[in-house]
Amino acid sequence: MQFETWTKALAELPIDCVAVGVQDDGELSPEAKTLDLRCREKLSRLMKRGDFSGKPGESWLVTDLEGISAERVLLVGLGAKGEVTRKAWRRAVLTAISAATRTRVASLALALPRPATKALSDERFGRSVAELVGNTLYRVNDLKSAKKPRPHALNRVVVAAPAKAAPAVNTGFAQGAALTAGSALMRNLANLPGNVCTPTYLGKIAEDLAKTHKSLKVKVLGLPEIKREKMGCFLAVTQGSDEPPRFIVIEHRHPKAKNAPVVLVGKGITFDTGGISLKDPPTMDEMKFDMSGAACVIGTMNAVGELNLPLNVIGIVAACENMPSGRAIKPGDIVTSAQGLTVEILNTDAEGRLILCDALNYAKRFKPDVVIDMATLTGAIVVALGVHHTGVFSNNDALARELVNCGLTADDRAWHMPLTEEYGEQLKSNFADMANVAGRDGGSITAAAFLGKFTKDLVWAHLDIAGTAYQGGSGKGSTGRPSALLLEYLLRRAAAR
Ligand code: BES
Ligand code: MN
Ligand code: ZN
Repeated sequence: MQFETWTKALAELPIDCVAVGVQDDGELSPEAKTLDLRCREKLSRLMKRGDFSGKPGESWLVTDLEGISAERVLLVGLGAKGEVTRKAWRRAVLTAISAATRTRVASLALALPRPATKALSDERFGRSVAELVGNTLYRVNDLKSAKKPRPHALNRVVVAAPAKAAPAVNTGFAQGAALTAGSALMRNLANLPGNVCTPTYLGKIAEDLAKTHKSLKVKVLGLPEIKREKMGCFLAVTQGSDEPPRFIVIEHRHPKAKNAPVVLVGKGITFDTGGISLKDPPTMDEMKFDMSGAACVIGTMNAVGELNLPLNVIGIVAACENMPSGRAIKPGDIVTSAQGLTVEILNTDAEGRLILCDALNYAKRFKPDVVIDMATLTGAIVVALGVHHTGVFSNNDALARELVNCGLTADDRAWHMPLTEEYGEQLKSNFADMANVAGRDGGSITAAAFLGKFTKDLVWAHLDIAGTAYQGGSGKGSTGRPSALLLEYLLRRAAAR
């Protein structure tokens, strides 16, 4: 996809289609008015006739207007008159793009009213356009044998920008394109079934990243190396499975980056049966998404490499299956983490925290500035926040606030959850340093508190994405979240450097 800015008069633009906004009272936006004057007011007459409602989410295609170079003009509903909010603008852009993909339009000009620069800077404007285009064009990577429908023709999107703003808008385009490529990679990986997307497969995909991005170095540890690292908790989870585990380290170093690295850690359970504490059958297939955190780390590292951000960023993925078998861990088993703390496994379905504690411990060798882990960790976070907000837990309030704020700007919302000492005390065990579960109440918080016992000397945040990383039901599939939040965080760090 090609993104460009233009400064020429709209009516003379050599393009397949121009998208302009109209209100639900029939009023044309300024851009639509300029076209209207050129085509002897055909557009305002059309609106007066009342055929098109101008409601948000709706569009109307007009063809072959005299006096306009574009063969098609797409009217996009803006709804009631008033200031253009970011949300309304996003909706309008989305509507225009999906309408264009239902035609043979190859090049599209977005001439929609834009929110004030205060609400949407030039750079963010470019980023949002590229992001909306990328997300709208994403097609799920199903394994259906039927012939795929004819692909859309859209390959060029242009927006109006004064010459002065063009460099910032173009920077934004590149950021948005890198973000959607990263989140598409995340979604494709997460959508793959557990028999295809194994730990070995994730390791191969990570190694491929190093081939395409010069700044990335990738190391993949297998069982012998994981044993050498004494990752007793990770080893405990993988021991019931016939699929070999992988521990993946992706390093991005930039010569101009002076700060200690940001380390991203992802939960990579390629299938979570629950183990001996077996899950109920109804939606167990969705546990193929239990590697969404890992997929997000891989996708984000792809974006970081693509943009060659002036930062040091390290992605860590612990990947294995959680299976019941004659070799599987049993409730009551006690294992020793790489850090040395012993853990009594009371529920084998609380496996995410077991692989993460060893991965978080591994992160310490990089002397990181910040560590952020991502995991579909608990059903309890879905009970607490539903599917709209990612849960943020942290031992550093400023970091938690920053992440919540990044979620707001990136339209990838998150909510700061409490993480006080009492929750950690609930993990007491009679036989080991701690248990891996603490009953039903506050389940997402006690899970975070478990991780907190391994991150005391780090500035650390944990994102519980069990509700946000994928959808169930008829739209079943990965959402790509929280890629946008994370990239926003990294871009801010790169800008503040
Ligand atoms: N992967 C699950 C969490 C999960 C549940 C993600 C539902 C998405 C949707 C995790 O490994 C798990 O099983 N957690 C248990 C913890 C419990 C045993 C303390 C849970 O949430 O039930
Ligand atoms: Mn589980
Ligand atoms: Zn799990």
